[in-house]
Amino acid sequence: MKHILDWSHSFTHRLEGSGFSTLRQAGRAQSLAARLRAHLQADTLPFLSLSFRKPLEEALPPVLERIAPYKHMVLLGIGGSALGARALQKAFYPQQDWPGHTGKCLWVEDNIDAPALDALMHNLPPHDTVVVVVSKSGGTIETMAQFILVRAWLQNALGDAWKQHVVLVTDATCGELRHEAETHGLMTLPVPDHLGGRYSVLCAVGMLPAAFLGIDYQALLSGAAAVSTSLLEQPETLATHPAFRLALWNEALMGADYSQLLFFCYVPQWQYMGAWFAQLWAESLGKQGKGSLPVPAVGVTDQHSTNQMFLDGPRDKGCLFVSCAAQDKGRAFPAELGPRWTYLQGKHFGDLLQAEGLGTRMALAQSGVPVTHLALGGTGEEAAGRFMQLAMAATVFTGWLLDIDPLDQPAVELGKRLANARLGAPGYAEEEKALARFMAEQGKDVDTI
Ligand code: PA5
Repeated sequence: MKHILDWSHSFTHRLEGSGFSTLRQAGRAQSLAARLRAHLQADTLPFLSLSFRKPLEEALPPVLERIAPYKHMVLLGIGGSALGARALQKAFYPQQDWPGHTGKCLWVEDNIDAPALDALMHNLPPHDTVVVVVSKSGGTIETMAQFILVRAWLQNALGDAWKQHVVLVTDATCGELRHEAETHGLMTLPVPDHLGGRYSVLCAVGMLPAAFLGIDYQALLSGAAAVSTSLLEQPETLATHPAFRLALWNEALMGADYSQLLFFCYVPQWQYMGAWFAQLWAESLGKQGKGSLPVPAVGVTDQHSTNQMFLDGPRDKGCLFVSCAAQDKGRAFPAELGPRWTYLQGKHFGDLLQAEGLGTRMALAQSGVPVTHLALGGTGEEAAGRFMQLAMAATVFTGWLLDIDPLDQPAVELGKRLANARLGAPGYAEEEKALARFMAEQGKDVDTI
């Protein structure tokens, strides 16, 4: 089912005369289309080409079959290696959070949260648990540290059989996890080349946990393919693709000093799509002083939280507003409601969501927030695949328009190097000295509370 992008309220006077309207004639779209064609020929944007789909469809079922008997899956990963799986879990397997759940469980561990990891190891039955370690690089310290501890837990409980309880999702040839898989003969699935974490949800990174929970991963992939096929077949049509139009709009927003992009989602079960989108957008575009800060919000909850700031705070926000008219409306209100609530008679609980979504969207537009409305045609897996592909493509195209590389994340490396130095890892002499200087400056001007 197709989604609609409605631009009726996307512009305010500040955007008039911006690049949005002129860029298509300026020939820039043409050069970006040539860039797209080159990427597709070299298969360096596999999230778009989905060139990994067939190999995935072959490799996934045997792994799924081997892990099918387990009730629990513990996913160890961070950033793009975890957020997509959680977004899909919350959207399509909400029952795990509901009372009375007895089915399979997915536990996504994406932090250095010692009590949480202890609780898992204390309470989960190792014989009924599969541990999935997701790391493209195979060297991310948070994920590897988790793996070291969880592997010891499995080994203590299961002896040599621990090897039947681990799946490594990592680079096909390189890295420590790949080495680990070969050394111990562990189950593995590859993260394809050129598919960095935040663009990897549709490969085994997100599809293995999704399929374990019974989520229709084929529909997710088909939804994504529906969005990108026209680009693959005719890259020269880039200028008219909705993802490119979203990118143009965002470039125009940034150019007009809109420094924040609200992602206001009125599909409650898609709440964690906001966290997934925020990481995708921020880590891809926050470079060289450019980009906009993604602000995830969920309707209706955040009407009673951040919405006041959206409506009447600094005029620096654009909004991608996501809703779906075709959501389950839940129960009807009973006939006896008392005088105050009579107007709810004959309506359903979900009617509130629709009415409040409309009200908020209009209030945002009337208060001058440029709002682009993504009206979803559905909220199932195919719809999610379409949405995720649109978001990933729009992010990359925005990066291209900003003349930055949307696929790297150089700035976050310094903090990692400093943490390594602090932990005594070899090879960080300069960072150790810099840390010592930084720490010597601390504590000179403090308050005590
Ligand atoms: O989106 C990204 O590229 C990052 O957030 C990575 O996913 C994150 O740093 C984890 O990397 P890796 O998968 O190599 O462990």
